[in-house]
Amino acid sequence: MHLAKWAHDLAEALLAESLPTRWAHSQRVYSQALTLAPALGADAELLAAAAIAHDVGYAQVAIDTGQHMIDGARYLRDVVGADPRLCSVVAFHTSSPWEAAELGLDEALAEFGPAEPALVDAITYCDLTSSPVGALVDPAERLKEVLDRYGPDHVVFRAVSAARPELLARVARIRERSHGVQPSLIS
Ligand SMILES: [Fe+2]
Repeated sequence: MHLAKWAHDLAEALLAESLPTRWAHSQRVYSQALTLAPALGADAELLAAAAIAHDVGYAQVAIDTGQHMIDGARYLRDVVGADPRLCSVVAFHTSSPWEAAELGLDEALAEFGPAEPALVDAITYCDLTSSPVGALVDPAERLKEVLDRYGPDHVVFRAVSAARPELLARVARIRERSHGVQPSLIS
């Protein structure tokens, strides 16, 4: 797990002290990624690395556009020279394309394309089953919490509202794909 260990150390250095709640969330996303390892095969380590690093764009040193998926991917690409596939999964995670469209950042996001649908489904599943404080959570509840937190005038509210059907479809695809692999570990 060399790549995952590297990403873990990096994310810990960027988040653990300054954003401890975000770090707790990231650790749960990581543990959710580990539950998908049997279904992902050769890409299991890449997903684990992306999971622990998916929110590094919230770190002060990474903030640029304010769209944390793009900022995280840029930091990983430009500052630490991460694997392009890792940067891509971070760039496209969860509601990123909808937020980028709201913010006029489609071209910035496209630098990390093309997105890999199987990995984007997986990281979205991991993110949406992990609460903001690192507990396991139902994805529909998680999305409701995000909408309540931001409120209807915020770009994240508009993006997540538009993205919601596809985000829940991604979760459903992962549950379907993982069924029978290690069902006791899939929440
Ligand atoms: Fe997240």
